[in-house]
Amino acid sequence: MSERLEDIAAAMVADGKGILAADESSGTIKKRFDVIGVESTENNRRDYRELMFRTQEAMTKYISGVILYDETIRQKAADGTPLVDIIRAAGAIPGIKVDAGAKPLAGFPGDTITEGLDGLRERLAEYHKLGARFAKWRAVIDINDEEGVPSGYAIDANCHALARYAALCQEAGIVPIVEPEVLMDGAHDIDTCYEVTKVTLLQLYAELNAADVVLEGTILKPNMVIAGKKSGTKNAPEEVAEKTIRLFRETVPSAVPGIAFLSGGQSDEEATANLNAINAIGPHPWKLTFSYGRALQAAPQKAWAGKVENVAAAQAAFTHRARMNSLAALGKWEAELEKAV
Ligand code: 13P
Repeated sequence: MSERLEDIAAAMVADGKGILAADESSGTIKKRFDVIGVESTENNRRDYRELMFRTQEAMTKYISGVILYDETIRQKAADGTPLVDIIRAAGAIPGIKVDAGAKPLAGFPGDTITEGLDGLRERLAEYHKLGARFAKWRAVIDINDEEGVPSGYAIDANCHALARYAALCQEAGIVPIVEPEVLMDGAHDIDTCYEVTKVTLLQLYAELNAADVVLEGTILKPNMVIAGKKSGTKNAPEEVAEKTIRLFRETVPSAVPGIAFLSGGQSDEEATANLNAINAIGPHPWKLTFSYGRALQAAPQKAWAGKVENVAAAQAAFTHRARMNSLAALGKWEAELEKAV
């Protein structure tokens, strides 16, 4: 495979393919395992991720790359094969989460700043040796109007960190996924999400340009424009699509090859329906696909429940969600296809 950043980025958003975000930190995967009654041991985490990476149909047809956590990129399958080799054998690209998480921002209650820049150059060099060809850094922007969250300072600081991360990635021959996630946890309406995401994306691209990042060798991982969960409002996919695309046209340069959405707490089908509606109103200047964690994995996790005898059912559930999202990335998904299963 080509090692040019532009070629790697293009492969990550190839037609009908998207990214599996399997980079849950040890704390987050424990929360997911708690739900299905599985103890979060190193072997259980390995077994679970191995079953996904060995799902032939999903991995070869619908998944372009997998975001891994530090433990997983070093792990071997039960038969001794490095998990990275299993991903590559399926024709997918291994990637790595490199941020150290969002921490409270001093002086700004309610805001967070994502840490992890110290020593990043050395870590990226090691991850490149381990096989990673793209990376992910997630900034978290919460919305709480009454508390004045987010502050402009928090947005600026997070975008500055994203740009420094992206420049270091490109120096190491690694495509940066830049992820400024405006959370959908709040009680805000869809237009507030639009405004906050707009300020964030404008600042992000100002910082990426200031840091001399080559946009053709980056992928954007944003939230959709959508009302907060606590608002009690469910926006129709057509409204999410229209506002999301209008926002991106105002803020995301067409030099960016692809936009791979996070699911952010949307239900499986909601995340698929919204992505489909977004692509149905194309053509667009960028590829628009998925980089889902929860919306790809909730179903297989439930089907697996930690039992060897459930591996085939879990793989079938993963293949189904991956196929539905692949169709949505092409604007060819229909709700009827969900019922067929
Ligand atoms: P969700 O799709 O579950 O939001 O996770 C994607 C991700 O990688 C968040 O950083």
